[in-house]
Amino acid sequence: MTAPSDIFPVIWQGDRAVLIDQTQLPARYTTVNIDSSEAMAVAIKTMIVRGAPAIGVAAAYGMALGAREIECERRDEFLSELEAVAQRLRRTRPTAVNLFWAIDRQLAIARQTAGAVADIRAALLQDAQAIQAEDLQTCQAIGQQGLTVLPQGDQPLTLLTHCNAGALATAGYGTALGVIRAAWQAGRLARVYADETRPRLQGAKLTAWECVHDGIPVTIIADNMAAHCMQQGRIDAVVVGADRIAANGDAANKIGTYGLALIARAHQVPFFVAAPLSTVDFKLASGAEIPIEERDPAEIYQVGTTRLCPDGAEFYNPAFDVTPAELIAAIITEKGAVPPEKLIAWRSGE
Ligand code: MRU
Repeated sequence: MTAPSDIFPVIWQGDRAVLIDQTQLPARYTTVNIDSSEAMAVAIKTMIVRGAPAIGVAAAYGMALGAREIECERRDEFLSELEAVAQRLRRTRPTAVNLFWAIDRQLAIARQTAGAVADIRAALLQDAQAIQAEDLQTCQAIGQQGLTVLPQGDQPLTLLTHCNAGALATAGYGTALGVIRAAWQAGRLARVYADETRPRLQGAKLTAWECVHDGIPVTIIADNMAAHCMQQGRIDAVVVGADRIAANGDAANKIGTYGLALIARAHQVPFFVAAPLSTVDFKLASGAEIPIEERDPAEIYQVGTTRLCPDGAEFYNPAFDVTPAELIAAIITEKGAVPPEKLIAWRSGE
């Protein structure tokens, strides 16, 4: 059965959240203590914590910290100040829907909790811990569901992934990397190819770090090598995560995912998206409505403190793209792996 990974990017310790500082990996494993909602907002924005489900967990703790900072004891005033905390956290990153999902869940808990403000504060911390525990279980279930749709055969598989949808991007274990971990534990995986994932290199830095940590054989390739690898028959399937999935199954994920899906289709390599149901935004009819974050151009023109590009050039740095549903063989969720067009049935509980 599934063994949990021992990498936890967000934990609650005593009276504060403790984050693995993902900007420092793999060179240094360090943690950052977060004891205010503002510090949590900055940590999300600066990507000390990143990855859609991990951002959701972090935001939930940000709400619990914010509730502790509100000094008034009148319920109505408390709830209105809590809304301001929510607004601050919402402004951090626009694409990953888990951020908004977790904040809305916390606001609903606050409104529903009877009693004094102290009871609401306690309920919010308890629910943040529940969100974290649920996400860990969800990822392990996604891993098992992935085994039902990966190609079958006598030989162990070689899978390609993009960005980092691993333990670091979730409460633990991972979504796409959860499927990969489950395949490894089931003896069905030979090797992972990790796209380096320009511009921030989450694949080369974080996915590769997790694989090495777990003893999973990993080959890092530059993003522009994926087509060549598929043409050579090196890749049996692609598994990626998602930041937001629209009701029609269009999936936003790290920039470069769409190109990868097109390449996979051209080579008849199955392309899977692994994500919890909390990543599905049923309010959006299609991926065209998903807001795409644009980040600092320095992520493109600079490596460390060294500028690579000439002055005078312009830059465009979208952090995500949308893969149309028709390129996705199945969306692997904790409840099952389904073709994208079947996702909508879960909205009405069918
Ligand atoms: O900008 P990031 O590093 O937060 O982007 C992360 C991704 O795109 C992941 O693939 C996605 O969030 C899925 S994480 C389980």
